Amino acid sequence: PLRQRLLVVANRLPVSAVRRGEDSWSLEMSAGGLVSALLGVKEFEARWIGWAGVNVPDEVGQKSLTKALAEKRCIPVFLDEEIVHQYYNGYCNNILWPLFHYLGLPQEDRLATTRSFQSQFAAYKKANQMFADVVHQHYEEGDVVWCHDYHLMFLPKCLKEYNNSMKVGWFLHTPFPSSEIHRTLPSRSDLLRSVLAADLVGFHTYDYARHFVSACTRILGLEGTPEGVEDQGRLTRVAAFPIGIDSDRFIRALELPQVQDHIKELKERFAGRKVMLGVDRLDMIKGIPQKILAFEKFLEENSHWRDKVVLLQIAVPTRTDVPEYQKLTSQVHEIVGRINGRFGTLTAVPIHHLMCISAGNFKRMAGLLSDLCGIALDPGHAHGSNVVMLSAPFSSPFLIAHSQTSMYSGKELQFGLHIEKQTLAYKADRSLDFYALCALYAVTDVALVTSLRDGMNLVSYEFVACQDSKKGVLILSEFAGAAQSLGAGAILVNPWNITEVADSIRQALTMLPEEREKRHQHNFLHVTTHTAQEWAETFVSTVETFYNTIPLCN
Ligand code: UDP
Ligand code: G6P
Repeated sequence: PLRQRLLVVANRLPVSAVRRGEDSWSLEMSAGGLVSALLGVKEFEARWIGWAGVNVPDEVGQKSLTKALAEKRCIPVFLDEEIVHQYYNGYCNNILWPLFHYLGLPQEDRLATTRSFQSQFAAYKKANQMFADVVHQHYEEGDVVWCHDYHLMFLPKCLKEYNNSMKVGWFLHTPFPSSEIHRTLPSRSDLLRSVLAADLVGFHTYDYARHFVSACTRILGLEGTPEGVEDQGRLTRVAAFPIGIDSDRFIRALELPQVQDHIKELKERFAGRKVMLGVDRLDMIKGIPQKILAFEKFLEENSHWRDKVVLLQIAVPTRTDVPEYQKLTSQVHEIVGRINGRFGTLTAVPIHHLMCISAGNFKRMAGLLSDLCGIALDPGHAHGSNVVMLSAPFSSPFLIAHSQTSMYSGKELQFGLHIEKQTLAYKADRSLDFYALCALYAVTDVALVTSLRDGMNLVSYEFVACQDSKKGVLILSEFAGAAQSLGAGAILVNPWNITEVADSIRQALTMLPEEREKRHQHNFLHVTTHTAQEWAETFVSTVETFYNTIPLCN
């Protein structure tokens, strides 16, 4: 039988492009929960439409990239620098993202943000229209068009205006905030109305769906029903569809020799220590500074643990052109440096802050290091009191660096390593490779997810999927969507309460095996039965059920 055709439209394509020459490109996997989950969706005849994360002003480039992406079933939307600046850096990530996560507008440039609101919103609409144009070019009758996330709230309306018989669903991967927050947006009504043009509107949790419906009733004065929102007889179905992961992909990966090798290496390197793990994009919502401060408090109060535990924090660089993210990066580096200075010894530090660099940059870095001070790149090399440890234990080399400062050169955020009074700059420019990530999950004793708000948080799911032999403990923020599904198995915490988190770290590290087993079983069952595949199937079939033939009202 023919598989259902599906057009997946998201700002970020599953691969991001890096230009290698006039018409040559290399494609790298994009980071983030949206991409991970959608990679697990297999039974549709799917095409992806989105931005490849790169500015391509010339025709040769656009043509060759389009061709390279076609092999991955991806179709690019080309956004120029100005649009990216106003729409992606501005409206999406400086306004909507913090607001939807209850962080408010960035403090320092609040007024500037308020002033540029209209022009950024105009760019947002324009960008959404550009996505709609590409969808329109590739649409075939009967396709389901699935729009994703806060970048594309205008898209459902643009699509239905093109063709009222398109089947359109929209899914939000972030929280939808209380209507009291949404009310503060100057474009509050426009955004709601355009989302309502979809046939189905989906959220991770019932709370987010309820917030959305009450925003529609309070702000637009429409009628909310148990099914959704009604506008002059036209129903938009609103419901919760909790996302999941492709758990088999993780479970199978653990059996692979290269992952087993990683695991062995990590076990040796951290022998005699309990491993705690954080995996986050370097984003304000993840509560990384709060997590590290809680870990410091734990070390402060439990001195006998100081040489028996290590925190590995993977921080994936993200949205590095947005000032708030740059500030966060240097803040995290500072705190880590201070705590490592306080509790570290000549041979070991309590926090490993891992930022990844690409193979090419790693090579250049290695050359510089050996020229400058004869440091050879053997795994586990520690250097003097500055403790610069460079290691290439994984197929995609990564670098562990302490004592860093961050600085800017042009648009790129860089980190400096102080070595023998010199500073080497490098740019953390990639995310961890999948096998390395699986190995880290598998050797972890305690995972720390301390998001201040998080739509779902798939890292918590992935950790659970990789823990069937170890049965480690998950410490999970009550403000992550995942708290509603993994709450009974995890230790739930308020990430703002550092004392409470420090206490849970102690509790997790000393938990008895029977208790760990019981909690793990609960979570493992959930993660392996609520998969990304099932999530997508349910969403798409619900679009078909609630597909509207009634035209838009206004
Ligand atoms: N991830 C990644 N590269 C890394 C670290 C993590 O691609 O170096 C993935 C991770 O496996 C997970 C996703 O990024 O699937 C993060 O999803 P989550 O829902 O936890 O948070 P988001 O980044 O979407 O806010
Ligand atoms: C979150 C958002 C996604 C986004 C991802 C990575 O998961 O919900 O839409 O793709 O973060 O962020 P980026 O800005 O790099 O796409």
